[in-house]
Amino acid sequence: MITDIDDSPHGESRAGGELVIVGTGYRALGDLSQQARSYLRAADKVFYLIGEPLLTQHIIKCNPSAESLFPFYAKGKPRVASYREMVDRILCEVRQGSLVCVAFYGHPGVFVNPSHEAVRQAREEGFRARMLPAPSAEDWLFADLGIDPARAGCQSFEATDFLLHARIFDPASVLILWQVGVIGAQDWPAGYDHRPNTRVLTEVLTRTYDADHEVIIYEASSYEVCEPRIERVPLAKLTAVELSAISTLVVPPAVRRPADRQMAQRLGFV
Ligand SMILES: C[S@@+](CC[C@H](N)C(=O)[O-])C[C@H]1O[C@@H](n2cnc3c(N)ncnc32)[C@H](O)[C@@H]1O
Repeated sequence: MITDIDDSPHGESRAGGELVIVGTGYRALGDLSQQARSYLRAADKVFYLIGEPLLTQHIIKCNPSAESLFPFYAKGKPRVASYREMVDRILCEVRQGSLVCVAFYGHPGVFVNPSHEAVRQAREEGFRARMLPAPSAEDWLFADLGIDPARAGCQSFEATDFLLHARIFDPASVLILWQVGVIGAQDWPAGYDHRPNTRVLTEVLTRTYDADHEVIIYEASSYEVCEPRIERVPLAKLTAVELSAISTLVVPPAVRRPADRQMAQRLGFV
């Protein structure tokens, strides 16, 4: 019997169809919440976008209806087209009146397009739709690197977006750049040569940071017995290191910002 599913409505239900998006985190099986497991078991139809083999096996065991969304990716096919097809496939099952559960690795709402879009569309069509959070790469990074965003703040950007929109950032706070190994990639990035666009990123960052400022390439581990990748390199050497679709870049603060005296007075510190 399922006892731990909160079935409170999230939007007016039109027909029986319902969508629940869950995250599986990073640590194989360890990050999967009880509630996510319950939905995976109870669903009429399960989809997943997860590469880790232990997790995918577990999901298939939980629910034989499980279907991978990976075949929607293809070399040369724009990722936005793949996302649209994934959402169509998910919504097709919801419209048939099924309880549909979709599992994404990490947090399903962090740097994931089809999860948000599927929830948005399902709600627009009058179906119940919700998303359950899970540990993201940033959560693991805080733990593995001992970074507390309370200390000096933390800024998080998608690397291509960071460059394209000349995002404003503060070198006194931690800077986290996601998808740093696939800057500019518009299709499924198998075999992607990151170096040309990493060079562009390095050039932009060196307008603010010294070339020898130490940056960290971080890759969370899926297994308790394996260490995460934590590689520290001078900013100028970023093009020379291996970066992939699972790399996240951490740029530690380069300067300290002193407290504002007037504000300290107003807040009653002095
Ligand atoms: C499409 S996003 C998915 C993020 C995921 N939903 C999450 O919550 O962490 C892919 C990006 O997440 C980060 N990422 C994925 N796997 C990672 C890992 N093992 N360690 C660190 N970052 C990772 C990288 O920045 C990668 O380019």
